[in-house]
Amino acid sequence: MNWKNNPVEKIKDWESELADNHQNFIKAGLKLDLTRGKPAIEQLALADGLDGILQGNYLASDGTDTRNYGGLTGLPEARNLGAEWLGLPQEEVIVSGNSSLSLMYQVLHVGAHYGFGGTPWLQQSTPPEFLAIVPGYDRHFAICEKLGIKMVNIPMKADGPDMEMVETQVRRPQVKGLWCVPKYSNPTGNIYSAEVVDRIARLGNQAASDFRIMWDNAYAVHDHHEDAPELTNLMELCRLHGTQDSVFLIGSTSKVTLAGAGISFLGGSKANIAHFLEEMAYWTIGPDKVNQLRHARLLPDLAATKKHMQKHAEITRPKFELVLKKLEESFRDQEMGSWISPEGGYFVSFDSLPGHAKEIVRLAGEAGVKMTPAGSTFPYGIDPEDKNIRLSPTFPPIEDLSKAMDIFVNCVQLATIRRHLGEQ
Ligand SMILES: Cc1ncc(COP(=O)(O)O)c(C=O)c1O
Repeated sequence: MNWKNNPVEKIKDWESELADNHQNFIKAGLKLDLTRGKPAIEQLALADGLDGILQGNYLASDGTDTRNYGGLTGLPEARNLGAEWLGLPQEEVIVSGNSSLSLMYQVLHVGAHYGFGGTPWLQQSTPPEFLAIVPGYDRHFAICEKLGIKMVNIPMKADGPDMEMVETQVRRPQVKGLWCVPKYSNPTGNIYSAEVVDRIARLGNQAASDFRIMWDNAYAVHDHHEDAPELTNLMELCRLHGTQDSVFLIGSTSKVTLAGAGISFLGGSKANIAHFLEEMAYWTIGPDKVNQLRHARLLPDLAATKKHMQKHAEITRPKFELVLKKLEESFRDQEMGSWISPEGGYFVSFDSLPGHAKEIVRLAGEAGVKMTPAGSTFPYGIDPEDKNIRLSPTFPPIEDLSKAMDIFVNCVQLATIRRHLGEQ
């Protein structure tokens, strides 16, 4: 039965029970953390094979001595891996250092300061803007803020961004880009439908010529099940619509091998990649090719990567199942919040009733559970409805996660009921 249908006295009793629980959690002095979208230690250990894998053989398939300078594009075998991952031919992919986030920063930096074939974004008569799908990844938004690119919120729907809004917005010439996490989106966990991907592929025909889609496929292989849904290949559709210059595709092995010592991929049309390499030559002589070779030896192709990811799934899946079970048991039919059950990725996104998220996160902090600050999944840290909370189940041990979820559930219930009683 929905809790609101109870007589007010019963709701008050429940409130005092929840408040007692809350005090007990505070007294227990727990220190739990649900903020970090990081692999657990057991996941990192799956990549232990990287250590020593080269056994003194530093030569890449093309004879490159990986210990030396050079090789801006990355090694052929690492490019092959990235190409399979991003669904592109090898020559449309370059491989870089441990962080795809730095690649994304660099792409936007190039657009902002040097331009994509025309006047740099920041020197045009109208200040540049980016479309930000919300809720989304805070570090994408931080890049825009840092570079002085204004953001426009686009709501996320079950099948991807609200495309009508995107199509209307891209006709404005100052709109220079769109952030996308198309598979197991951060934080909502959903996958863009084939129809949405096709509409995104067509945007290049409606937008300014220096508009770029940032297709951050960070969770390309992070499936919880073997029969996971496929993401439609954006670049193939772009080729069909003649818009291949409108997109950069991004990925990394941060959550496949080592979060701090993986390799990253940047894909795009030959023209875009050539332009980026010209700029890149100013800030590096070449990437860490030794690490690229280690990765290519451990994960020679996509099939090997997928096999490796099944071992990750065995560790992460029970954690997601636990979080979803607790949400189901506590909130199904209760009108206290909603969420999507993701089939992969790193997050569960919980929407409380509007106006409750900050208070829930505050209560959780009081009770010893650190949560991602409410609002951080929106540009400028402002969630206009104050309802989105990102849960990150992967890092804590499952016992800690279970305790943290009990506290979280109690906080959602307490905040919701208190507000309800206050409004009576
Ligand atoms: C969508 C998305 N992109 C990129 C990253 C960071 O990637 P990298 O470690 O390659 O910089 C994350 C990390 O959480 C992410 O969620």
